[in-house]
Amino acid sequence: MKPVEIKDGIFWIGSVDWNRRNFHGYSVSHNGTTYNNFLIKDEKVALIDTVAEEFWGTLQCNLAHALDEGQKIDYFVINHLEPDHAGCLALAVEKYQPEKIYTSPMGQKAMQAHFHYKDWPVEVVPTGSEVSLGKRTLQFVETRMLHWPDAMLTYCPEDKIAFTNDAFGQNWATSERFADEVDRTRLEELMAAYYANIVLPYSPVVLKTIKALKEMNLEIDMICPDHGLMFRGEEDCKWVFDKYVEFAEQKPKNKAVIIYDTMWHSTEKMALAVASGLAEEGVSVRVMCMKNNHHSEVMTEVFDAAAVIMGSPTHNNGILPLMADMICYMKGLRPQNKIGATIGSFGWSGECVKVLNQALEGMGMDLVDPVKVKHVPTHDTMKQCHEQGKTIAAAIKEKLG
Ligand code: FEO
Repeated sequence: MKPVEIKDGIFWIGSVDWNRRNFHGYSVSHNGTTYNNFLIKDEKVALIDTVAEEFWGTLQCNLAHALDEGQKIDYFVINHLEPDHAGCLALAVEKYQPEKIYTSPMGQKAMQAHFHYKDWPVEVVPTGSEVSLGKRTLQFVETRMLHWPDAMLTYCPEDKIAFTNDAFGQNWATSERFADEVDRTRLEELMAAYYANIVLPYSPVVLKTIKALKEMNLEIDMICPDHGLMFRGEEDCKWVFDKYVEFAEQKPKNKAVIIYDTMWHSTEKMALAVASGLAEEGVSVRVMCMKNNHHSEVMTEVFDAAAVIMGSPTHNNGILPLMADMICYMKGLRPQNKIGATIGSFGWSGECVKVLNQALEGMGMDLVDPVKVKHVPTHDTMKQCHEQGKTIAAAIKEKLG
């Protein structure tokens, strides 16, 4: 994709990664992604962020299109050091020889640890710092742990534009550049998936940062994240801020996710009986077998659910490995405000529900009584699972008020 002038003299010069599926090594992105970065042409020319290293050719090509003949890049602004944004930094420093590289205090530390540079012209810009480009100013706001310690936001008051890095992003490779050009429901789904798998543990930071930004009274009419579609106009900027507050508050919906793995289908039958009990009481249910769903897909569904039911047979005095993987992933993302329940079949020792209960309790969930079945469920034990579903539904109803 060629550069797009998003405001007078400000260009999107990003790369569209249509084939990206493995995102950051731990989540799946069915729709690819984009690495958005920007060029501001003023008396001084500033490059905001780079792209993933494999797109170095695209970045050079886009810069050749966007820069005037003989025009150099004076400043680099590095909002975040993760390699999908700073992957071309060393190559770009060598080729374009910037006068200054601006980054946050934690960004400087991360830059040193990533690139082991010796003589780069790095200047630290803590919150409140600003740099003049001539007619425009760049102001910097540290957004620590949103989602890395080095993260910062760059704001240009003259153009009312905020370059927010990962915040407000979505993994969506598109030919369109703005949110108002695509389907809003799909956009929201992908924004939620991104939030659930990347930003979720930092929800308290999101709320604090948005509050601080509101108190700063920054006039913003364009929000440019480093992934996916950008937001233009006051209405869309407000929409995306409100959406992030909603995500960060983690208010659950009338929804339950049953996550299970199974050996000889006993735990699977139990999962379906629990689902039937929940659905009978009007709860929206997702039944997700770990053999058929990636842990990040499951997490996207868990994100707005009120209840999480985990099922596994007992295997070697524990649980099946795909369930252990899911627990490890979910625990790190620290979901809040959930009801938990467990089910499982066993042959002899029967530790499954104990292990699952400990995991859900460790995540702060309020637990409903488990159901455990020896070898194969009977009519009565299937009924017990169905009843467990109804009990969970009642707990959801009480939770949602
Ligand atoms: Fe898009 Fe934190 O990297």
